[in-house]
Amino acid sequence: MSRRYPPVSSKAPYLWHGGDYNPEQWSPEVWSEDFRLMQKAGITAATVGVFSWVSLQPAEDRFTFEWLDEVIDGLHAHGINVILATPSAAQPAWMSQAYPDVLRSDANGVRKQHGQRVNYCPNSPNYRRLSADMARRLAERYGQHPAVILWHVSNEYGSACYCDTCAGKFREWLQAKYGTLDELNARWWTRFWGHTYTAWDQIMPPRENAEFLTHGLNVDYFRFMSDSQLDCYRNERDALRAITPDIPITTNLMGAYKPLDYRRWAQELDVVSWDCYPNPNHAPADIAFLHDLTRGLKDGQPFLLMEQTPSSQNWQEINALKRPGVLRLWSYLAVAHGADSVLYFQWRRGRGGCEKLHGAVIEHAGREDTRVFREVSQLGAELHTLGDQVIGAAVDARVAILFDWDNWHALDDAIGPVRDKRYLDTVRKHYAAFYRKNITVDVVFADSDLSKYEIVVAPMLYMVKAETAQQIEAFVAKGGTFVTTYMSGLVDENDLAFENGYPGPLSKVLGVWVEEIDALYEDQTNTIIMADRSGAYPCRHIADVVHAETAQVLATFGSDFYAGMPAVTRNAYGNGAAYYIASDADPAFLDPFYRDVLQQKGIGAPLKTPSGVEVALRTQADKTIMFVLNHNPRAVTVDLGVVERRDLLTGDVVSGSVIVDGYGVHILS
Ligand code: GLA
Ligand code: ZN
Repeated sequence: MSRRYPPVSSKAPYLWHGGDYNPEQWSPEVWSEDFRLMQKAGITAATVGVFSWVSLQPAEDRFTFEWLDEVIDGLHAHGINVILATPSAAQPAWMSQAYPDVLRSDANGVRKQHGQRVNYCPNSPNYRRLSADMARRLAERYGQHPAVILWHVSNEYGSACYCDTCAGKFREWLQAKYGTLDELNARWWTRFWGHTYTAWDQIMPPRENAEFLTHGLNVDYFRFMSDSQLDCYRNERDALRAITPDIPITTNLMGAYKPLDYRRWAQELDVVSWDCYPNPNHAPADIAFLHDLTRGLKDGQPFLLMEQTPSSQNWQEINALKRPGVLRLWSYLAVAHGADSVLYFQWRRGRGGCEKLHGAVIEHAGREDTRVFREVSQLGAELHTLGDQVIGAAVDARVAILFDWDNWHALDDAIGPVRDKRYLDTVRKHYAAFYRKNITVDVVFADSDLSKYEIVVAPMLYMVKAETAQQIEAFVAKGGTFVTTYMSGLVDENDLAFENGYPGPLSKVLGVWVEEIDALYEDQTNTIIMADRSGAYPCRHIADVVHAETAQVLATFGSDFYAGMPAVTRNAYGNGAAYYIASDADPAFLDPFYRDVLQQKGIGAPLKTPSGVEVALRTQADKTIMFVLNHNPRAVTVDLGVVERRDLLTGDVVSGSVIVDGYGVHILS
């Protein structure tokens, strides 16, 4: 039975609609106009304060909260809730001047000068002290304000600092982790190139002008930096929570963002939120994957879509406008995959600064008779109609795809057998095979509980942590189906190769032994030839020379010196089975492969749809909400079958064939 999660805030039990609002850039006359227009567009939540530090604290001992009082009161008077941000993503210039340790150092360890944003050292004691102090003041001043529904700590934590403060903290972190230098040297394999450390203070961050080829060091610095920034978040969160224990707290994440391990971050957030800015070449499946990844961070708890552009970004090479209807389509795409909000960056375009050409609900003309304003307002009205019918509903999956940040980091860091490992692309490729079939997928992580799934796919699981290996074995033994690929089971969590070769601790469950790994040039392919003669499919990039030990050979390579050797195997293990795909296979192979795997498990799609039309479900104890999303620019006919469903937006009862407009969406119950 599916659960219904409680709303993020009991003050706002509906899908939030709104976004980033920067009133400090505007005069009170503009604020009044903003409030009027927000009301008109059905805005229910405004995120304020994101970069307001200097506007709130122009000097260390001077505070100017009055303008924010007025803004928050004004929003409240217009029925708009406030997502209140702490301003710590951009420290004031006076702070960098007075306390240079606040400034971040680049990859050469050279301290940067003041400017831009996210330019603070996460381990700076002064940054920690002053950001916690500001958080405390905000909580004291606004914690009881009826408009405030959520804390938004800082903004898009990220990147890394390589300063001496961080170096010192890193050594402490390593001491706590390894105890002795001997242990560290062993785990990092430092006898290679004579890199043995003989004193702790010889250890430096992996700076570009120093040691950055010790992979154990690199992966640990990645973990340390992610933790350091998480400590910054915790530092502010704890200050807020001490005063406002009932207001939930988040920070905005960025999807598949490498420098931070969001799985670890999510445990510290009350609700996960993220900023969705697809690349022009992102297919709907790629966007859906990122929503599913975000939902997975807290094991299925609905998340907030914190930012998306209403029209265009400005920081990409080419910033195409979202075509009419696409904003609505992608907003519901997010909701269908577990979002409980539709929020934008940004409400009003600033007149200056590097984002003056970034899309906004209100553009420089300041008008409401625009396409974007109309589309936003229509969405606002629809979200109002949906009321509380969708929020809190779960997304139920029987299939999981495993994604692991340490693995991603280590795989990209490894030198050979190809430079570009394409981990994320490969995970997406396997995900897309399910997406095309309208099969719901959960994204899970190295520490997730796998036991509730029937199929678990872990492409390129290069780094296998001991507990993950045990879980996979237990999962298959109990009847689960596990699928993995080439480049799996090479190293342990320190990036040390397994002593008994590949696929390391997965050898027993997979029943194969990988003797060699071949790298293919861009224009080179091999062929996966099915043993039952059902097909032959091209494969590329990387190919393993693999021996089946207990596994059954389902397909062999078609050419080269390993022609006739296993390309795809299946190993019966306990009550389940584990598959190994020894090369990078195209969708042409993955589609029929997963069709068979799904069939064996009796997992089917809720509906069969024409190409480019997605069906996704959110479920609550007593009802299922079905989203039919047409990603094609043209109208298509979708057969809903004999079941009668209610259209939640129009109230109509529908069944059988329905026409879905180009970029159209139907939400059915
Ligand atoms: C990010 C930031 C915003 C803004 C947008 C622009 O998501 O959080 O402040 O810079 O990008 O796309
Ligand atoms: Zn630093």
